[in-house]
Amino acid sequence: SQRTLVLLKPDAVRRGLIGEIIGRIERKANWTISALELRTLSQDVLEQHYGEHKGKPFYEPLVEFMASGPVVALVVEGERVIEGVRALAGPTDPIAAAPGSIRGDFGTIVRENLIHASDSEESAERELKIFFPSVA
Ligand code: GTP
Ligand code: MG
Repeated sequence: SQRTLVLLKPDAVRRGLIGEIIGRIERKANWTISALELRTLSQDVLEQHYGEHKGKPFYEPLVEFMASGPVVALVVEGERVIEGVRALAGPTDPIAAAPGSIRGDFGTIVRENLIHASDSEESAERELKIFFPSVA
């Protein structure tokens, strides 16, 4: 089975949506939360995590937003969980995300799109090492 890194972004934490979002993940069959922590991300961690976007116009505001308050970092394990959490989240732009998805139900702003989930097995391995070196 697979493992993925999930972040509930600072907007989700500030708005009291931790339970709502984790509940959706927790209710999926054959998935398990194997690590979970509330933490404020350092510039160093954010630079590693979002390195692929460095130099893009949205990079600086993205990092500032991601450091603006605590996030909830989770490791989720199970059947097709990488594709599965991305499907629960919906597309990056919350206005393009269908109602029923996390971003579609709760978001309006591209930057403040509530959740991060690894987008491939390679990304998951890389990101798990950044956030949970003891688990990875
Ligand atoms: P993550 O799970 O956070 O990685 O989102 P994603 O995989 O759906 O999107 P991507 O990795 O392409 O971009 C990372 C984050 O940068 C997104 O979640 C958005 O918060 C932000 N972002 C991406 N593209 C844009 C953009 O065109 N404009 C702005 N303002 N933010 C963007
Ligand atoms: Mg991404």
